[in-house]
Amino acid sequence: MTRFLITSALPYVNGVKHLGNLAGSLLPADIHARFRRQTGHEVLFVCGTDEHGTPAELAARAAGLPVALYCARQHTLQAQIYRRFGLSFDHFSRTSGAANRALTQEIFRALDAAGFIEPRTVRQAWSPTDGRFLPDRYVVGTCPHCGSPGARGDQCEACTRLLDSDELIAPRSAISSAADIEFRETRHLFLKLPALEGRLRDWLATRRDWPPLVRSIARKWLDEGLRERCITRDLEWGVPVPKAGFGDKVFYVWFDAPIGYIAATQEARADWRDWWQAGDVQYLQFLAKDNVPFHAISFPATLLGSGLPYRPVDTIKGFNWLTYEGGKFSTSGRRGLFTDTALEACPADCWRWWLAANAPETSDTDFTVERFVEGVNKDLGDVFGNLVNRCLSFAAARFDATVPEPGERGPLERQLAADLDAHLVRLRAHHEALSFRKAADETRAIWKRANAYLSEAAPWTAIRTDRARAATVVHTGLNLVRTAALVAWPFIPFAAEEVLDCLGEPVAWPTSADALPAGRKIRVPPVLFPKISAACLPPA
Ligand code: MF3
Ligand code: ZN
Repeated sequence: MTRFLITSALPYVNGVKHLGNLAGSLLPADIHARFRRQTGHEVLFVCGTDEHGTPAELAARAAGLPVALYCARQHTLQAQIYRRFGLSFDHFSRTSGAANRALTQEIFRALDAAGFIEPRTVRQAWSPTDGRFLPDRYVVGTCPHCGSPGARGDQCEACTRLLDSDELIAPRSAISSAADIEFRETRHLFLKLPALEGRLRDWLATRRDWPPLVRSIARKWLDEGLRERCITRDLEWGVPVPKAGFGDKVFYVWFDAPIGYIAATQEARADWRDWWQAGDVQYLQFLAKDNVPFHAISFPATLLGSGLPYRPVDTIKGFNWLTYEGGKFSTSGRRGLFTDTALEACPADCWRWWLAANAPETSDTDFTVERFVEGVNKDLGDVFGNLVNRCLSFAAARFDATVPEPGERGPLERQLAADLDAHLVRLRAHHEALSFRKAADETRAIWKRANAYLSEAAPWTAIRTDRARAATVVHTGLNLVRTAALVAWPFIPFAAEEVLDCLGEPVAWPTSADALPAGRKIRVPPVLFPKISAACLPPA
């Protein structure tokens, strides 16, 4: 059996994340981890907070807290929220931990020894007003490529291009807004990406099955020509650079953050080497499209260049953007719906279902309150919830809450079994292909097929004249509820587990064959998905 190592992009520690962060990496990674566990694979699913760099420092400054304390608090807050969303991490780590520090330094030393590190004198933004260097997000200005006014010193969010702060037009300080930026000379360390291009291209040529979004971003990067990337910063918070002459610097956050995937595994498992160095592991990463260059180019180059035996990624699933009522989500502008507020408004399963069924896979997805309310009420209330409720309530009322002994299967049952087999084959294929929308569509189709069977077989009519026939239908129906809950489980684990619990069944991958033994006692759950309305949600 293949084992699956699954990682979601590590959310920045600063502030509670919005629904876009959930939709574009955390949730799909969790759904896939659950699917693989459900089909009997061994899975290791790790994540953690990305704690270094200017976002954390700027946020701590705004909160008036020492950065270490700020990060510790924010980490705990995010970890609690993710647990309430049912994200089934085997471990939720922190990149500021000791394991990541040691491993980042180890990988750096190996790159340096292999000749892939080069010291250079660079001109770095310096603010006389602030009395310090201004790395990365400490400088903001206009993007030289797309003209977006909100570009930062490391990357333009609008066009996803990576930048150096001296490329920004009209730069100013993010601390003081002072525009009197000077450029002073200072020594930094560069990763020689061009020297790694051959190895990177050879390796990329073996990654044939990457989704088009990821391939095209990776190819664009290679074709535009790789450049040496500066991997050190003039900051205090970060992994210290273990090299003479650079002791007052730390690594760039994007150098140490992905190494955090390996460090998280070290913290989680004594057998961590088996996950990063053994042959029978598939490594899957889930992330949003602005993260693709780091995961498809610079992190693999880091690992390949180090010569250390750490596995570069097998498959990257990249996501487009979730937008909010026609515009961008914005953490800094507090625009959109945030994960803490979302949980207060509706159960986690409602969010999980809608965000997966409408995953921003082939294009951006617009979240609107109206579409959300409609989709959740229909799919979870009218289709899944109704199936469970009508079937279990009837069995409770007319068969003493006991799985009845079935009679002979008729044509309706034979057709149902054939249809279910076909649905389950397709569902599995969609999950394996990381097609979340299609997997959700197929899941909904199974729920609908189950409802159609019950309506047609109508046990409530049969029972008046033919109790044996009604028993067969209820037996089939209860098994259908089991199947419906099992296919629901990766998407809506809370409700699915409640239903399975009522049936006395464990999580497994279903087949069309009956599983519930006659004579077993069942329970009827409370209404699973009470109707929601726009009034439940904060106004746009
Ligand atoms: N914190 C980054 C973001 O939210 C993602 C980092 S992924 C990592 O865009 F692996 F590098 F940590
Ligand atoms: Zn731009």
